[in-house]
Amino acid sequence: MPTTRSIEVLANPGDLFHAAAEEFVSLARTAIGAQGRFTVALSGGSTPKALYSLLAASYANFAWNRVFLFFGDERHVPPTHADSNYRMVNESLLSKITIPAENVFRVLAENPAAAAAASDYETRIQRFFELKPGEFPRFDLILLGMGPDGHTASLFPGSTALDEQSRLVVSNWVAKFNTHRITLTFPVLNNAHEAMFMTSGADKADMLHQVLEGNNTPPYPCQRVQPSDGKLLWMIDEPAAAKLTR
Ligand code: 6PG
Repeated sequence: MPTTRSIEVLANPGDLFHAAAEEFVSLARTAIGAQGRFTVALSGGSTPKALYSLLAASYANFAWNRVFLFFGDERHVPPTHADSNYRMVNESLLSKITIPAENVFRVLAENPAAAAAASDYETRIQRFFELKPGEFPRFDLILLGMGPDGHTASLFPGSTALDEQSRLVVSNWVAKFNTHRITLTFPVLNNAHEAMFMTSGADKADMLHQVLEGNNTPPYPCQRVQPSDGKLLWMIDEPAAAKLTR
């Protein structure tokens, strides 16, 4: 079934994060009602912090015990490091809600060997979703951001992880940052029930025009997120949408 792509343009960041929070909770309620749980992979970086804070403030009493939180990617640093996506999520959300520790699948990125951290995280995902070899998890929601170079998760232009078609999680050398990252792969992103990008700010306008309206060779990593049997939703604010032609 082809991907359904929706683009929602919100007037400002506040409206964007409120709309994103409503989408998150709506999907969660539907999933919990249908299957008793909601599985979501959170994005890192700076944009989603406001969403996580809003979820903690407005939905502190949500059925978080039915929510299972994973990470789309993680930097190769300890969870206390300023660059850690886990640290950002913990400060903005986890520390403010009641969620069982076993519901949070942190990438053990303090491991000196990034490849071992990736394998461990992959094994834990396989166990949770009770996957057979060759199967991919189907997350109810995968939150994603768009980097200024068109990367998403830690799938950067020109990096080896872009070609991964069998692993769920890999460590990926990111030359521009001279570091490894741990990331979900495209087969996982494209097996999601819904992939939701959140993009905010004028500094993203040029790249967003390229990603949403350009026909690039090779495609930007963001353009390769096309859930094969799921929804692709772009939530953007007007400053980020400024260069879109339609
Ligand atoms: C990360 C993210 C990454 C992020 C983009 C956008 O670990 O940094 O997973 O893919 O979503 O770089 O980052 P901003 O939201 O900070 O612009």
